[in-house]
Amino acid sequence: MHSEPAVVASGDPAGQVPGPRHVAIVMDGNGRWAQRRHLPRVAGHAKGVEAVRRTVEAAVRHDVEYLTLFAFSSENWQRPAEEVSVLMRLFMTALQKEIAQLRANGIRLRVVGDLSRFDPKLQRLIEQAESRTAHNTGLLLTVAANYGGRWDIMNAVRTLLRERPDLIHQPGHPDEADLAPFLALADTPEPDLFIRTGGEQRISNFLLWQMAYTELYFTDLFWPDFGASALAEAIADFRRRERRFGRTGAQVASG
Ligand code: IPE
Ligand code: IPE
Ligand code: MG
Repeated sequence: MHSEPAVVASGDPAGQVPGPRHVAIVMDGNGRWAQRRHLPRVAGHAKGVEAVRRTVEAAVRHDVEYLTLFAFSSENWQRPAEEVSVLMRLFMTALQKEIAQLRANGIRLRVVGDLSRFDPKLQRLIEQAESRTAHNTGLLLTVAANYGGRWDIMNAVRTLLRERPDLIHQPGHPDEADLAPFLALADTPEPDLFIRTGGEQRISNFLLWQMAYTELYFTDLFWPDFGASALAEAIADFRRRERRFGRTGAQVASG
C-alpha cells in the first residue's frame, strides 16, 4: 500500500509545518449562544466582542501576522432592524473602546467591505481607527463589514475596467495578476487557515477569491465561547495538514 510521506516544510529548522501566517474567521453562533441561555440574541453579540479581544491577543501570541474577521455580511442587512442597529452600535463602541489597546499592542486595523452604506458617524470612526493604527507594524487585523466575496470580486472587476480599459485589447488579459491589486485584501497573502465557529460548514460569501487553497476548519463552539485554547486547537489541526496546491504528496515532501 502506498503511504504518503510525512510533510516536512522546507526551510523550517524544526522540520515542522509552520503555523498559519493568515487566519480568517467567520464568527458565527452569537444568536444561538444567547438563545441557549434564554437571553436576547443581541446579548450574544455583546459577548462576541469579548471573544474578539481574546482571539486577537491569542493570535499575536501564535505569531499570526494577519487576522481577518467576518463581522457583518452583505446579507446580514436582512436581519430585523433592531438587531442590525445593535450590531452597528456595538461596532462603534468597540472601535472607540479598543483603539488604545490596539495601539499598545502594535496592531494595525483595517476595515474592508462596502462602507458607503454605514452611518457617516460610523464611517468616520472607522477612518479614525485606521489612521490612528496605520503606523503599527504588528498584527494586521482586518474586519470585514458589509462585506461579501461576490461584492469584492465584482467591485475589483469594475475598478479594473475603469482604471485599465486598455487591458481588454491585450491577449490573455485581464489576468489574475491584473485583478489582484483591486481586491479587498490586496497586499495580504491569502488565508492559510479558515475557521468557522457555530457548527455550520459553509463559507457564507466570505473570501471567495482568496480562499482557493485555504485549509478549512469548523468547530461547533459558538463564537462567544471561542478563545485562546480553541485557536490553539485549530492551529494544531492546521499543522497536521499537508498542503499540496495541486501537487502530489511526494513532490511536496521533496520541496
Ligand atoms: C454571528 O452570529 C454574528 C453575525 C452574523 C453578525 P449570528 O448572529 O449569526 O448567530 P447565530 O448563527 O444566529 O447563532
Ligand atoms: C456569516 O454568518 C456572517 C458573519 C459571521 C458575519 P451568518 O450567520 O450570516 O451566515 P448564514 O446565514 O448562517 O450562512
Ligand atoms: Mg449565524
